[in-house]
Amino acid sequence: MDGTTRHALSFDAAADVYERSRPGYPDPVVDWLLAGRPRDVLDLGAGTGKLTRSLVGRAEHVTAVDPSPRMLDQLRQVVPGVTALVGTAEAIPLPDASVDAVVVAQAWHWVDPARAVPEVARVLRPGGVLGLVWNTRDESVPWVRALGALLAADAAGRGATAEEHVPPTTLGAVESMTHRWSQPVDRERLHALVLSRSYVITASDERRRQLLAQVDGLLGEDPALAGPPPWPLPYVTQAWRVLRP
Ligand SMILES: C[S@@+](CC[C@H](N)C(=O)[O-])C[C@H]1O[C@@H](n2cnc3c(N)ncnc32)[C@H](O)[C@@H]1O
Repeated sequence: MDGTTRHALSFDAAADVYERSRPGYPDPVVDWLLAGRPRDVLDLGAGTGKLTRSLVGRAEHVTAVDPSPRMLDQLRQVVPGVTALVGTAEAIPLPDASVDAVVVAQAWHWVDPARAVPEVARVLRPGGVLGLVWNTRDESVPWVRALGALLAADAAGRGATAEEHVPPTTLGAVESMTHRWSQPVDRERLHALVLSRSYVITASDERRRQLLAQVDGLLGEDPALAGPPPWPLPYVTQAWRVLRP
């Protein structure tokens, strides 16, 4: 198994901490991604359903696909009533022309676009939309930048960098939008956020302990975190949609 595959599969071991810590997606971004009211929508790389829960009520039928059975177990508990299937972007377990929208949150950088784009094109109906979205911590804020620097030491290029946010241009016209917002966090949630990173999941116990101690150091030092929690953790959400002719 190569390093990328090992990291992609690592989410399976951290489904619980992932669900407790990761942010969801703001309503204006979800509405924009869907480009209307789709009848059938596919959440690809759905994980524990952080985006899926916002799709329910915005489409008649929601299908969630992810390679990790444990992420999908969490999803079924949190978002009952959706069809949750084990599968990948490179082999989507749905028939041809069966959905009006495919949305991929925080996961397109894990897929092989050479195989995933034809699969998305196969399952999308004419006039359908592919929506891609990433939440990125806003590192213009000093303590958030310091947190990012702690995590970057282990990331070794496997986080979703801005360079990896590349929508496919072969499918149709590409549009983008940016939305700024904050997630309230406390110490426990920041710890869980660190522990939910794919490269931290695969690190040694000793390294994980060190990282959490460094996060605690940050909490003791930065004036923005001096007051009682919750503290606002600012995010920049970047979204792309590709409208199929
Ligand atoms: C960072 S998580 C994002 C989960 C969820 N969409 C969210 O926004 O919280 C990345 C997800 O991509 C999934 N994944 C990894 N490789 C994939 C692939 N080739 N096709 C589809 N999903 C994949 C992982 O199992 C994981 O659930």
